[in-house]
Amino acid sequence: MAETKKGLIIAIDGPAGAGKSTVSRLLAERLGYRYIDTGALYRTIGLLAWEQGVNPDDGERLAALCDAADITLSDTRVLLGARDISKDIRRPEMGQMASEISAQPQVRRALLGLQRRLGGTGAAILEGRDIGTVVFPDADIKIFLDASIEERGRRRYAELQQRGEAEVSLAQTLQDMAERDRRDSQRAHAPLRPAADAVRIDTTTLTQADVVDSMAELVHAHASIESKKEKPGS
Ligand code: DC
Repeated sequence: MAETKKGLIIAIDGPAGAGKSTVSRLLAERLGYRYIDTGALYRTIGLLAWEQGVNPDDGERLAALCDAADITLSDTRVLLGARDISKDIRRPEMGQMASEISAQPQVRRALLGLQRRLGGTGAAILEGRDIGTVVFPDADIKIFLDASIEERGRRRYAELQQRGEAEVSLAQTLQDMAERDRRDSQRAHAPLRPAADAVRIDTTTLTQADVVDSMAELVHAHASIESKKEKPGS
């Protein structure tokens, strides 16, 4: 029997470095919702392909990796079986691998059901590239976060430095990001683009707290519209 939905499904899409993860996590904490980082699923398959020498163009073998992978996502950690891969998947080359393997339709198909199962019971914030367009086209709230490429590059570089990945330069980080943007938005299957009904927020000059407040306002506005629908005339 299908489980009944316990709360809203909130879809947050946008390019790398737009600030999606941090603000999604903070909003999830504020609402008492689950936070589901769908990029972590693509990164996990990228890591497996890297370690097993699978070509990122080989859709069939990648789909087999997806089907066999036992992935557990918690709010803070990613497990592959019993192995904690939370740090491994954050390496810059795994971002590129994830972007490459995610262009394969077999991979997208194989991960679609898993994402729908993870979010389908509601009270969930799903963050990714195609959540509002493909995974949950009927999501209750859709937000598209963006920022200038310079700002996104700076944020990603600061993050890498904080993690001790000092060998990567700012110029290299910006170049990798431009390449990832191009691949994610020009791929044939589920390209990165805002859903027609998504609210767009440009985070270039906003603080994380500002962005979380704006998103929380959208949630409250949605709740008040819904409650008026339930009590017409009030
Ligand atoms: O959000 P991220 O940087 O962890 O995502 C890594 C890559 O995974 C991204 O470049 C494209 C892919 N991805 C995707 O195609 N669809 C998603 N819903 C999430 C991520």
